Amino acid sequence: MTIERVFSGVQPTGNLHLGNYLGAIVNFVKLQDTHNCIYCVVDMHAITVWQDPAELTRNIREVTAAFIAAGIDPKKHIVFNQSQVSAHAELAWVFNCVARLGWLNRMTQFKEKAGKDRENASVGLYAYPNLMAADILVYRATHVPVGEDQKQHLELARDIAQKFNNDFSESIGAHGFNDKFFPQPEPLITGPATRVMSLRDGTKKMSKSDPSDYSRINLTDDADGIAQKIRKAKTDPEPLPSEEKGLETRPEADNLVGIYAALAGKAKTDVLRDFGGGQFSGFKSALVDLAVDKLGPIGAEMKKLTQDPAYVDSVLTDGASRANVIASETMNAVKDIVGFIRAK
Ligand code: TYM
Repeated sequence: MTIERVFSGVQPTGNLHLGNYLGAIVNFVKLQDTHNCIYCVVDMHAITVWQDPAELTRNIREVTAAFIAAGIDPKKHIVFNQSQVSAHAELAWVFNCVARLGWLNRMTQFKEKAGKDRENASVGLYAYPNLMAADILVYRATHVPVGEDQKQHLELARDIAQKFNNDFSESIGAHGFNDKFFPQPEPLITGPATRVMSLRDGTKKMSKSDPSDYSRINLTDDADGIAQKIRKAKTDPEPLPSEEKGLETRPEADNLVGIYAALAGKAKTDVLRDFGGGQFSGFKSALVDLAVDKLGPIGAEMKKLTQDPAYVDSVLTDGASRANVIASETMNAVKDIVGFIRAK
Protein backbone atom coordinates (compact mmCIF):
# COMPACT_ATOMS: atom_id res chain seq x y z
CA MET A 1 0.00 0.00 0.00
CA THR A 2 1.27 3.48 -0.82
CA ILE A 3 1.14 6.15 1.84
CA GLU A 4 -0.44 9.45 0.78
CA ARG A 5 2.51 11.74 1.06
CA VAL A 6 3.04 15.29 -0.15
CA PHE A 7 6.43 16.55 -1.27
CA SER A 8 7.36 19.92 -2.69
CA GLY A 9 10.38 22.16 -2.97
CA VAL A 10 11.32 25.81 -3.34
CA GLN A 11 14.69 27.06 -4.60
CA PRO A 12 16.68 29.35 -2.29
CA THR A 13 17.60 31.77 -5.06
CA GLY A 14 16.46 35.05 -3.48
CA ASN A 15 13.43 37.27 -3.95
CA LEU A 16 10.75 34.86 -2.81
CA HIS A 17 7.66 36.45 -4.34
CA LEU A 18 3.89 36.47 -4.49
CA GLY A 19 3.93 33.83 -7.27
CA ASN A 20 5.82 31.39 -5.04
CA TYR A 21 3.45 32.17 -2.21
CA LEU A 22 0.11 31.94 -4.05
CA GLY A 23 1.13 29.27 -6.56
CA ALA A 24 2.76 26.96 -4.04
CA ILE A 25 3.25 27.88 -0.38
CA VAL A 26 -0.43 28.67 0.35
CA ASN A 27 -1.27 25.17 -0.85
CA PHE A 28 1.58 23.66 1.20
CA VAL A 29 -0.05 25.14 4.29
CA LYS A 30 -3.52 23.77 3.46
CA LEU A 31 -2.32 20.25 2.74
CA GLN A 32 -0.96 19.90 6.26
CA ASP A 33 -4.46 19.08 7.53
CA THR A 34 -4.94 16.08 5.27
CA HIS A 35 -1.52 14.68 4.37
CA ASN A 36 1.93 13.87 5.68
CA CYS A 37 3.95 16.69 4.19
CA ILE A 38 7.61 17.11 3.35
CA TYR A 39 8.73 20.59 2.31
CA CYS A 40 12.25 21.03 1.05
CA VAL A 41 14.53 23.99 0.46
CA VAL A 42 16.18 22.71 -2.70
CA ASP A 43 19.70 24.12 -2.34
CA MET A 44 21.18 21.57 -4.76
CA HIS A 45 18.83 22.79 -7.47
CA ALA A 46 19.87 26.37 -6.74
CA ILE A 47 23.51 25.79 -7.67
CA THR A 48 22.62 24.70 -11.21
CA VAL A 49 23.20 28.40 -11.86
CA TRP A 50 25.92 30.35 -10.04
CA GLN A 51 25.10 31.30 -6.42
CA ASP A 52 27.30 33.40 -4.21
CA PRO A 53 27.98 31.04 -1.26
CA ALA A 54 27.24 33.50 1.58
CA GLU A 55 24.07 34.62 -0.18
CA LEU A 56 22.99 31.01 -0.74
CA THR A 57 23.27 30.33 3.00
CA ARG A 58 21.15 33.42 3.71
CA ASN A 59 18.60 32.41 1.10
CA ILE A 60 18.25 28.88 2.49
CA ARG A 61 17.37 30.39 5.86
CA GLU A 62 15.03 32.88 4.25
CA VAL A 63 12.98 30.22 2.43
CA THR A 64 12.82 28.18 5.65
CA ALA A 65 11.63 31.28 7.49
CA ALA A 66 8.98 31.86 4.80
CA PHE A 67 7.69 28.31 5.20
CA ILE A 68 7.35 28.74 8.96
CA ALA A 69 5.98 32.29 8.78
CA ALA A 70 3.34 31.20 6.25
CA GLY A 71 2.09 28.57 8.68
CA ILE A 72 3.97 25.35 8.00
CA ASP A 73 4.46 23.39 11.20
CA PRO A 74 7.97 21.89 11.12
CA LYS A 75 7.22 19.66 14.10
CA LYS A 76 4.12 17.97 12.68
CA HIS A 77 5.58 17.81 9.18
CA ILE A 78 9.10 17.85 7.74
CA VAL A 79 11.02 20.95 6.67
CA PHE A 80 14.66 20.57 5.61
CA ASN A 81 17.27 21.52 3.04
CA GLN A 82 17.99 19.06 0.27
CA SER A 83 21.79 18.82 0.60
CA GLN A 84 21.47 17.38 4.12
CA VAL A 85 19.88 14.20 2.77
CA SER A 86 22.37 12.52 0.43
CA ALA A 87 19.79 10.08 -0.97
CA HIS A 88 18.50 12.88 -3.25
CA ALA A 89 21.82 12.95 -5.10
CA GLU A 90 22.16 9.17 -5.09
CA LEU A 91 18.73 8.53 -6.57
CA ALA A 92 19.24 11.37 -9.06
CA TRP A 93 22.26 9.49 -10.42
CA VAL A 94 20.23 6.34 -10.92
CA PHE A 95 17.58 8.45 -12.66
CA ASN A 96 20.26 10.02 -14.89
CA CYS A 97 20.66 6.48 -16.18
CA VAL A 98 16.90 5.87 -16.53
CA ALA A 99 15.77 9.13 -18.20
CA ARG A 100 16.48 9.50 -21.92
CA LEU A 101 18.24 12.44 -23.56
CA GLY A 102 15.21 12.91 -25.78
CA TRP A 103 13.01 13.45 -22.73
CA LEU A 104 15.26 16.14 -21.28
CA ASN A 105 15.64 17.83 -24.65
CA ARG A 106 11.94 18.65 -24.54
CA MET A 107 12.12 20.56 -21.23
CA THR A 108 11.06 24.14 -21.87
CA GLN A 109 12.48 25.45 -18.60
CA PHE A 110 15.99 24.37 -19.60
CA LYS A 111 15.60 26.11 -22.94
CA GLU A 112 14.43 29.30 -21.23
CA LYS A 113 17.09 29.28 -18.53
CA ALA A 114 19.98 28.28 -20.77
CA GLY A 115 18.98 30.91 -23.32
CA LYS A 116 21.02 31.39 -26.47
CA ASP A 117 24.34 30.35 -24.93
CA ARG A 118 23.36 26.74 -24.32
CA GLU A 119 26.93 25.44 -24.60
CA ASN A 120 27.78 27.44 -21.52
CA ALA A 121 24.93 26.13 -19.31
CA SER A 122 25.92 23.76 -16.49
CA VAL A 123 25.35 20.03 -16.89
CA GLY A 124 23.39 20.29 -13.64
CA LEU A 125 20.90 22.69 -15.21
CA TYR A 126 20.26 20.14 -17.96
CA ALA A 127 19.89 17.19 -15.56
CA TYR A 128 17.85 19.28 -13.11
CA PRO A 129 14.51 17.52 -13.81
CA ASN A 130 16.05 14.15 -12.91
CA LEU A 131 17.07 15.51 -9.51
CA MET A 132 13.57 16.88 -9.10
CA ALA A 133 12.11 13.43 -9.86
CA ALA A 134 14.49 11.98 -7.26
CA ASP A 135 13.34 14.56 -4.67
CA ILE A 136 9.77 13.38 -5.01
CA LEU A 137 10.28 9.67 -5.53
CA VAL A 138 12.87 9.13 -2.81
CA TYR A 139 9.89 9.66 -0.45
CA ARG A 140 7.55 7.82 -2.79
CA ALA A 141 5.37 10.92 -2.56
CA THR A 142 1.98 10.73 -4.23
CA HIS A 143 1.02 14.43 -4.39
CA VAL A 144 3.10 17.42 -5.40
CA PRO A 145 1.70 20.94 -4.98
CA VAL A 146 3.34 23.28 -7.51
CA GLY A 147 2.63 26.25 -9.75
CA GLU A 148 1.73 25.77 -13.40
CA ASP A 149 5.36 26.21 -14.57
CA GLN A 150 6.42 22.91 -12.96
CA LYS A 151 3.86 20.76 -14.77
CA GLN A 152 6.24 19.49 -17.43
CA HIS A 153 8.82 18.48 -14.81
CA LEU A 154 6.14 16.51 -12.96
CA GLU A 155 5.24 14.68 -16.17
CA LEU A 156 8.88 13.74 -16.54
CA ALA A 157 8.96 12.44 -12.95
CA ARG A 158 5.99 10.24 -13.81
CA ASP A 159 7.75 8.92 -16.91
CA ILE A 160 10.90 8.15 -14.92
CA ALA A 161 8.90 6.33 -12.23
CA GLN A 162 7.18 4.23 -14.84
CA LYS A 163 10.34 3.40 -16.78
CA PHE A 164 12.15 2.40 -13.59
CA ASN A 165 9.23 0.15 -12.59
CA ASN A 166 9.24 -1.42 -16.06
CA ASP A 167 13.00 -1.76 -16.56
CA PHE A 168 13.47 -3.39 -13.18
CA SER A 169 10.15 -5.20 -12.88
CA GLU A 170 11.75 -8.62 -12.47
CA SER A 171 14.18 -7.50 -9.81
CA ILE A 172 11.45 -5.51 -8.04
CA GLY A 173 9.39 -8.69 -7.81
CA ALA A 174 12.37 -10.84 -6.84
CA HIS A 175 13.05 -8.56 -3.89
CA GLY A 176 9.45 -8.83 -2.77
CA PHE A 177 8.36 -5.28 -3.62
CA ASN A 178 5.04 -4.20 -5.10
CA ASP A 179 5.33 -3.94 -8.92
CA LYS A 180 4.47 -0.24 -8.62
CA PHE A 181 7.61 0.38 -6.59
CA PHE A 182 7.52 4.08 -7.44
CA PRO A 183 4.03 5.62 -7.44
CA GLN A 184 2.90 8.02 -10.15
CA PRO A 185 3.21 11.38 -8.38
CA GLU A 186 0.26 13.63 -9.05
CA PRO A 187 0.71 17.37 -9.54
CA LEU A 188 -1.62 19.53 -7.45
CA ILE A 189 -1.95 22.77 -9.39
CA THR A 190 -4.83 24.45 -7.65
CA GLY A 191 -6.33 27.83 -6.81
CA PRO A 192 -6.93 31.03 -8.80
CA ALA A 193 -3.21 31.93 -9.00
CA THR A 194 -1.34 28.93 -10.41
CA ARG A 195 0.53 31.28 -12.74
CA VAL A 196 1.03 34.74 -11.27
CA MET A 197 2.22 37.19 -13.93
CA SER A 198 4.60 40.15 -13.79
CA LEU A 199 3.03 43.38 -12.54
CA ARG A 200 4.74 45.21 -15.43
CA ASP A 201 3.71 42.83 -18.21
CA GLY A 202 0.72 40.50 -17.93
CA THR A 203 2.13 38.13 -20.53
CA LYS A 204 5.32 37.36 -18.56
CA LYS A 205 5.52 35.13 -15.49
CA MET A 206 6.31 36.83 -12.16
CA SER A 207 9.87 35.70 -11.55
CA LYS A 208 12.74 36.01 -9.09
CA SER A 209 15.11 36.94 -11.86
CA ASP A 210 13.16 39.78 -13.52
CA PRO A 211 15.53 42.79 -13.44
CA SER A 212 12.65 45.10 -12.45
CA ASP A 213 11.73 44.81 -8.77
CA TYR A 214 8.43 46.49 -9.70
CA SER A 215 7.49 43.34 -11.62
CA ARG A 216 6.97 41.36 -8.42
CA ILE A 217 5.89 41.63 -4.80
CA ASN A 218 8.55 40.08 -2.60
CA LEU A 219 7.47 38.40 0.62
CA THR A 220 9.86 40.69 2.47
CA ASP A 221 8.43 43.94 0.99
CA ASP A 222 7.02 46.33 3.59
CA ALA A 223 3.56 47.90 3.42
CA ASP A 224 4.80 50.97 1.49
CA GLY A 225 6.62 48.82 -1.03
CA ILE A 226 3.59 46.60 -1.60
CA ALA A 227 1.32 49.64 -2.02
CA GLN A 228 3.67 51.34 -4.48
CA LYS A 229 4.08 48.24 -6.62
CA ILE A 230 0.34 47.58 -6.83
CA ARG A 231 -0.41 51.25 -7.63
CA LYS A 232 2.18 51.19 -10.41
CA ALA A 233 1.03 47.81 -11.77
CA LYS A 234 0.18 47.92 -15.46
CA THR A 235 -3.53 47.95 -16.33
CA ASP A 236 -5.69 48.89 -19.30
CA PRO A 237 -8.12 51.83 -19.59
CA GLU A 238 -11.37 49.80 -19.42
CA PRO A 239 -13.35 49.29 -16.21
CA LEU A 240 -13.22 45.78 -14.72
CA PRO A 241 -15.56 43.27 -16.37
CA SER A 242 -18.41 41.72 -14.43
CA GLU A 243 -17.74 38.19 -15.63
CA GLU A 244 -14.65 36.02 -16.00
CA LYS A 245 -15.06 35.80 -19.76
CA GLY A 246 -14.28 39.51 -19.95
CA LEU A 247 -10.77 38.85 -18.59
CA GLU A 248 -9.76 36.57 -21.44
CA THR A 249 -8.11 39.21 -23.61
CA ARG A 250 -6.93 41.38 -20.71
CA PRO A 251 -3.87 39.69 -19.14
CA GLU A 252 -3.08 42.47 -16.61
CA ALA A 253 -6.66 42.67 -15.34
CA ASP A 254 -6.85 38.88 -15.22
CA ASN A 255 -3.64 38.75 -13.18
CA LEU A 256 -4.70 41.35 -10.60
CA VAL A 257 -8.12 39.75 -10.18
CA GLY A 258 -6.46 36.34 -9.75
CA ILE A 259 -4.10 37.74 -7.13
CA TYR A 260 -6.99 39.34 -5.26
CA ALA A 261 -9.00 36.10 -5.40
CA ALA A 262 -6.10 33.97 -4.16
CA LEU A 263 -5.27 36.36 -1.30
CA ALA A 264 -8.93 36.56 -0.26
CA GLY A 265 -9.49 32.81 -0.62
CA LYS A 266 -12.27 33.45 -3.14
CA ALA A 267 -12.99 32.57 -6.77
CA LYS A 268 -12.38 35.17 -9.50
CA THR A 269 -16.14 35.25 -10.21
CA ASP A 270 -16.80 36.41 -6.65
CA VAL A 271 -14.19 39.15 -6.94
CA LEU A 272 -15.76 40.37 -10.19
CA ARG A 273 -19.18 40.35 -8.57
CA ASP A 274 -17.84 42.91 -6.09
CA PHE A 275 -15.63 44.99 -8.40
CA GLY A 276 -17.05 44.46 -11.93
CA GLY A 277 -17.91 47.74 -13.68
CA GLY A 278 -15.62 49.74 -11.36
CA GLN A 279 -12.37 51.53 -12.21
CA PHE A 280 -8.95 50.07 -11.48
CA SER A 281 -8.12 52.80 -8.96
CA GLY A 282 -10.77 51.62 -6.47
CA PHE A 283 -9.91 47.97 -7.06
CA LYS A 284 -6.20 48.63 -6.57
CA SER A 285 -6.83 50.38 -3.23
CA ALA A 286 -8.76 47.35 -2.02
CA LEU A 287 -6.00 45.07 -3.31
CA VAL A 288 -3.34 47.10 -1.46
CA ASP A 289 -5.29 46.75 1.81
CA LEU A 290 -5.78 43.03 1.30
CA ALA A 291 -2.16 42.36 0.28
CA VAL A 292 -0.74 44.36 3.20
CA ASP A 293 -3.11 42.61 5.57
CA LYS A 294 -2.14 39.10 4.36
CA LEU A 295 1.54 39.56 3.51
CA GLY A 296 2.59 42.09 6.16
CA PRO A 297 2.55 39.64 9.08
CA ILE A 298 4.39 36.99 7.02
CA GLY A 299 7.15 39.41 6.07
CA ALA A 300 7.48 40.59 9.68
CA GLU A 301 7.70 37.03 11.00
CA MET A 302 10.27 36.15 8.32
CA LYS A 303 12.44 39.06 9.47
CA LYS A 304 12.20 37.91 13.07
CA LEU A 305 13.07 34.31 12.21
CA THR A 306 16.04 35.19 10.02
CA GLN A 307 17.50 37.11 12.95
CA ASP A 308 17.75 33.79 14.77
CA PRO A 309 19.78 31.61 12.37
CA ALA A 310 20.55 29.05 15.09
CA TYR A 311 16.85 28.32 15.46
CA VAL A 312 16.27 28.11 11.70
CA ASP A 313 19.27 25.79 11.30
CA SER A 314 17.98 23.55 14.09
CA VAL A 315 14.64 23.21 12.29
CA LEU A 316 16.47 22.13 9.12
CA THR A 317 18.71 19.64 10.89
CA ASP A 318 15.80 18.10 12.75
CA GLY A 319 13.77 17.86 9.54
CA ALA A 320 16.71 16.38 7.64
CA SER A 321 17.22 13.62 10.18
CA ARG A 322 13.56 12.61 9.90
CA ALA A 323 13.62 12.89 6.10
CA ASN A 324 16.75 10.78 6.02
CA VAL A 325 15.00 7.84 7.69
CA ILE A 326 12.41 7.66 4.90
CA ALA A 327 14.84 8.44 2.07
CA SER A 328 17.47 5.87 3.07
CA GLU A 329 14.84 3.17 3.22
CA THR A 330 13.92 3.87 -0.41
CA MET A 331 17.57 4.20 -1.41
CA ASN A 332 18.48 0.84 0.15
CA ALA A 333 15.64 -0.77 -1.76
CA VAL A 334 16.75 0.91 -4.99
CA LYS A 335 20.31 -0.34 -4.51
CA ASP A 336 19.02 -3.88 -4.05
CA ILE A 337 16.73 -3.57 -7.08
CA VAL A 338 19.49 -2.20 -9.32
CA GLY A 339 21.90 -4.91 -8.15
CA PHE A 340 24.39 -2.86 -6.14
CA ILE A 341 26.05 -4.41 -3.09
CA ARG A 342 25.60 -2.54 0.19
CA ALA A 343 26.49 -3.12 3.82
CA LYS A 344 23.65 -4.89 5.59
P1 TYM B 1 10.77 27.50 -7.79
O1 TYM B 1 11.72 27.64 -6.66
O2 TYM B 1 11.06 28.21 -9.06
O3 TYM B 1 9.34 27.95 -7.33
C1 TYM B 1 8.75 27.44 -6.15
C2 TYM B 1 7.27 27.20 -6.38
O4 TYM B 1 6.63 28.43 -6.77
C3 TYM B 1 5.90 28.23 -7.96
N1 TYM B 1 5.94 29.46 -8.77
C4 TYM B 1 4.85 30.11 -9.21
N2 TYM B 1 3.55 29.85 -9.06
C5 TYM B 1 2.68 30.73 -9.64
N3 TYM B 1 3.08 31.83 -10.31
C6 TYM B 1 4.39 32.13 -10.49
N4 TYM B 1 4.77 33.22 -11.13
C7 TYM B 1 5.36 31.24 -9.91
N5 TYM B 1 6.71 31.22 -9.86
C8 TYM B 1 7.05 30.13 -9.17
C9 TYM B 1 6.61 27.08 -8.68
O5 TYM B 1 5.75 26.44 -9.60
C10 TYM B 1 6.99 26.20 -7.51
O6 TYM B 1 5.91 25.35 -7.15
N6 TYM B 1 11.82 22.99 -9.71
C11 TYM B 1 11.15 23.68 -8.63
C12 TYM B 1 11.63 23.29 -7.24
C13 TYM B 1 11.64 21.83 -6.98
C14 TYM B 1 10.51 21.01 -6.74
C15 TYM B 1 11.03 19.71 -6.50
C16 TYM B 1 9.14 21.26 -6.73
C17 TYM B 1 12.75 21.03 -6.87
N7 TYM B 1 12.38 19.76 -6.58
C18 TYM B 1 10.19 18.62 -6.25
C19 TYM B 1 8.30 20.16 -6.48
C20 TYM B 1 8.82 18.88 -6.24
C21 TYM B 1 11.37 25.17 -8.80
O7 TYM B 1 12.31 25.60 -9.41
O8 TYM B 1 10.51 25.95 -8.08
